[in-house]
Amino acid sequence: MHILLLGCGGQVGWELQRSLAVLGRVTALDHDSTQHCGDFANPQGVRETLRALRPDVIVNAAAHTAVDKAESEPELAQLLNATTPGVLAEEAARTGAWLIHYSTDYVFDGSGERPWTEADTPAPLSVYGATKLEGERLIQASGCRHLILRTSWVYAARGGNFARTMLRLASERERLTVIDDQWGAPTGADLLADVTAHAIRHLQTRPEDGGLYHCVAGGATNWHSYAKYVLAQAQQGPAAIELKATEVAPVPTSAFPTPARRPHNSRLDTHKLQSTFGLQLPPWQQGVARMLAEIL
Ligand SMILES: NC(=O)c1ccc[n+]([C@@H]2O[C@H](COP(=O)([O-])OP(=O)(O)OC[C@H]3O[C@@H](n4cnc5c(N)ncnc54)[C@H](OP(=O)(O)O)[C@@H]3O)[C@@H](O)[C@H]2O)c1
Repeated sequence: MHILLLGCGGQVGWELQRSLAVLGRVTALDHDSTQHCGDFANPQGVRETLRALRPDVIVNAAAHTAVDKAESEPELAQLLNATTPGVLAEEAARTGAWLIHYSTDYVFDGSGERPWTEADTPAPLSVYGATKLEGERLIQASGCRHLILRTSWVYAARGGNFARTMLRLASERERLTVIDDQWGAPTGADLLADVTAHAIRHLQTRPEDGGLYHCVAGGATNWHSYAKYVLAQAQQGPAAIELKATEVAPVPTSAFPTPARRPHNSRLDTHKLQSTFGLQLPPWQQGVARMLAEIL
């Protein structure tokens, strides 16, 4: 099996380089790759790459993920999150390749408290959410064989992440304020990559199981509780670190105005994924504790 991985340097893309390696030959591209075009700002270049490589599976981890910046550059967000994924879908439909793609909790408006299911109606609040939804729809409309995994609050040990930011702030300040009215599940890029590899295997014998699925770690939390969990974990065990912060105060979203509106309720229901693919998604704390053990 020849797998083309796009966006290989991102959080999820990096973990996919590891998890996909056992499935076959992987060609991994990022936007600055030189041998083949992996730049989503150049849809025609990406189309030519697909025609030259003719992969059996296309895994798309590239995206415009800067949620606030997307508000001021909607054309670029549209290109990266919708137009070029649409090109991937057209080419996959033409050749019979599988297209694996990631989407987001930000397709929902965040109302209510119930976890969103795949059958719920999206109503994005931001340019990022709207362009990601458009990407989903272009893929679905193309008729290609596809798997779309909607996820939330992605973190990885590599690069910057929320936990690292909290640890830095807690070592500099006595008091932190963190939002407590946005709910979701922190989801490890490694978990997403492992689920992806498992699903690709599954789809080889059960192609009828392709489609749209929610994929997040188990349970739910808010950013304030997530921060408290990170700081508590960092202060225990053999690698315990000393922190200056003595108070982590909860504040509403309105305390941190941002260009993009974010959903309050980002809980995603994962029953469909777990039952279709025979998977058990571990509680979010498990992955966060593991990531902390790696970075501390
Ligand atoms: N991060 C989250 O919290 C989150 C939540 C829900 C869903 N998702 C979805 O999960 C998927 C993976 O996200 P992630 O967290 O791994 O994001 P990420 O770390 O920001 O990775 C995105 C990747 O896209 C690349 N990219 C940027 N501009 C590009 C271009 N013009 N052409 C090709 N590649 C380009 C980035 O390269 P550079 O780093 O070099 O710019 C990076 O490798 C995305 O579909 C995202 O929408 C993420």
